[in-house]
Amino acid sequence: MNFTQSKPVGILGLGTAVPDKILTNQDLEEMVDTNDEWIVTRTGIRERRVLSPGEKPIDIVIPAARKAIEESGLKPSEINGLIFCTYTPDYIMPASACLLQGELGLGRDGLCYDLNAACTGFVYGMQVGWATIRSGLARNILLVGADFNSMVTDYTDRSTCILFGDGAGAVVLGEVDEGSGILGNSAGVDGQSWKHLMLSAGGCAAPITAENLESRDRYIQMNGREVFKFAVRAFNEAFEKAAADAGIEPSEVDLLIPHQANIRIIQSAMDRYGFNADRVVINIEKYGNTSAGSIPLALETARQEGKLRKGMTCALVAFGGGLTHGATILRW
Ligand code: UT7
Repeated sequence: MNFTQSKPVGILGLGTAVPDKILTNQDLEEMVDTNDEWIVTRTGIRERRVLSPGEKPIDIVIPAARKAIEESGLKPSEINGLIFCTYTPDYIMPASACLLQGELGLGRDGLCYDLNAACTGFVYGMQVGWATIRSGLARNILLVGADFNSMVTDYTDRSTCILFGDGAGAVVLGEVDEGSGILGNSAGVDGQSWKHLMLSAGGCAAPITAENLESRDRYIQMNGREVFKFAVRAFNEAFEKAAADAGIEPSEVDLLIPHQANIRIIQSAMDRYGFNADRVVINIEKYGNTSAGSIPLALETARQEGKLRKGMTCALVAFGGGLTHGATILRW
């Protein structure tokens, strides 16, 4: 095993996918006491994607992963690691990563597991993937960020059901040219605040019972104001620490690719660091908050809008349940 791998690690291919079904603010007006104007001004969201009955998370993830692999130019068998970042897997066991490895015929030697860091999942995954390749434990890794929040959203709770959507993204991580790839990282957690964002029933501490089956406990519960305050603070901390790790100032970042949780959180970062709209990726109006799917979907939006160009320095910044936060500085 080679533990002296020093080549830079970066993204060799990117693919994304979302369910076809669209849930608009107008649809939600029919379901809870809310209105389009409140949702747009308080969150920036106009619509989100949701699974249709009978559709499974893995059905959406497979085409995203296939696109990423195709773009990487690698054979599936050359990918010998799979990290699947999600808190909404198809099954509690086995890991969704294993379902995907089997479906895609990826290499059979190597680590294959799910990583749950909620909305920070993809950024944590970038860092773990980077470290795994640098250590020599894998040569190329498929990293998935995907969540299907509609499966655990309470559509009678107007404070949460307006926010969340479903979506998936995947990247292939591997060696890239000198001067590009991952330049710096930061990760953190405030584990004392975990109760502010949780799904209380369905795990082993509180399995689903006849009593809680009809309760709100099996859906996302969030103390929105507390999470909002955390998010603004955590964003700044994660971004500044990752920039320092990369040896640059936040102002030297060309493109900010933030977790899409609330337009006001993104706006606060833009104001603080003096980023105009050209230097920030925003797609929250179309997808809402897709948790671990958010950053790869934003990468794809950046590419489609022509904002993401070779040689650019990008900052991926995320925060979420845990309460976790993290950032990665990447030269595209
Ligand atoms: O990725 C995971 C991280 N999650 C987040 O980052 C979410 C962070 N939090 C938020 O984005 C915001 O806190 C929310 C969007 C969830 C809520 O926005 P807010 O500006 O913090 O609203 P609020 O909870 O302070 O509520 C203000 C008012 C309340 O009414 P009263 O008490 O002032 O009469 C709410 O009942 O807005 C009411 N309200 C709504 N009104 C219409 C709450 N939700 C709605 C709604 N439609 N959907």
